[in-house]
Amino acid sequence: MTDQAGPRRTPTAGAGPLQSPDLSQSPDLLFSLADLQAEAGRRLDPVHRDFFAGGAGDERTLRANETAFDAYRILPRVLRGGGERDLRTELLGETLPMPVLVSPTAFHRLAHPEGEAATARAVGAAGTVLVVSMAATTPIEAVAGTSGGPARLWFQLYPQPDLGFTASLIGRAEAAGCRALVVTVDSPVFGRRERDLRNGFLDLPAGLCCENMRDPETGRIREIVMDATLDWTRIGWLRETTRLPIVLKGILHPADARLAVAHGVDAVLVSNHGGRQLDGVPASIDALPAVVEAVGSRIPVLLDGGIRRGSDILTALALGAVAVGIGRPVVWGLAARGESGVRQLLDLLRADLARAMTLAGAVRPADLTPDMIVTRVPR
Ligand code: FNR
Repeated sequence: MTDQAGPRRTPTAGAGPLQSPDLSQSPDLLFSLADLQAEAGRRLDPVHRDFFAGGAGDERTLRANETAFDAYRILPRVLRGGGERDLRTELLGETLPMPVLVSPTAFHRLAHPEGEAATARAVGAAGTVLVVSMAATTPIEAVAGTSGGPARLWFQLYPQPDLGFTASLIGRAEAAGCRALVVTVDSPVFGRRERDLRNGFLDLPAGLCCENMRDPETGRIREIVMDATLDWTRIGWLRETTRLPIVLKGILHPADARLAVAHGVDAVLVSNHGGRQLDGVPASIDALPAVVEAVGSRIPVLLDGGIRRGSDILTALALGAVAVGIGRPVVWGLAARGESGVRQLLDLLRADLARAMTLAGAVRPADLTPDMIVTRVPR
């Protein structure tokens, strides 16, 4: 799929003062992801809004994920022509229409009654990847069965100490047609999220549960266990347990990126869990270059955390990411406008990336190179 970047007319400025548009009156319009966040904030129960928005500790890393992009500036190339942008991206043997995928986020039915099914339909329409959280409120089989376009599904796993249960869960994901296993390795214990503690948000409301945690024998829902004994031997076990490509999510240190390659992992995702695990770790974009350097071209490096604009995606790609993941904005889209909200935000990001690439003189993602990014000198 390519993106239209033909001649456009410049909109004329309105006569009145600039005002934040009331999007609830014009549901088809979406100007920025921040507008969607504001709209979602008005609709969500404040306790649930805090769960989605919040991070660990003082939320330093949470804030840094977004603000770190401000330290990078794009040096555009000019007179490169090229017409339409071609955003297609090869990843784990597939061609995605754009270098953007949906990172796993828990509890979509807390944001909207249609939950993960609505998200899957929207992501299917965009043709890109939805990473379904192990903590989804819809079973993976039902997410896979949603009509309206087959989303490419990857399944996110917190490896459980019970290997038999872990293997059965992987088997369910494989049988449902998931095309990769995303193993989250930044969570040997839950991060301490003070907003949730203060709000007393400890459990899902009645009627909602982590459907993927249903025990195949008893039918009961198990608790998700964060396993502090987890080490690289488990990655070896996973490698032998599934034929799906394995993506390690939550890599920040370049030495771990090298170990991932040595353990036969297929991709790494540079991520700090959206600032929800160890507060004080670097913004994802700041951790990216060293990981890219450590991995070289042996396996793809992905990134999530703080991506809100096409120019953020451009920066990450130029610094060596093959694709980026989006977390919270998908929840905002879902909470604000259901399936169409997620569609609109993916459309907006695609168009915004195409425009940023056009302005920077890149026709394809591969044209984005590190020399096009400069670090801003603080004043
Ligand atoms: C997450 N994230 C996450 N990651 C994961 O591996 N499994 C999960 O179940 C969840 N759940 C989850 C819930 C919520 C509410 C948030 C905000 C995040 C982390 C997620 O995949 C991703 O790393 C970050 O959200 C990316 O940062 P942004 O895009 O939210 O800034």
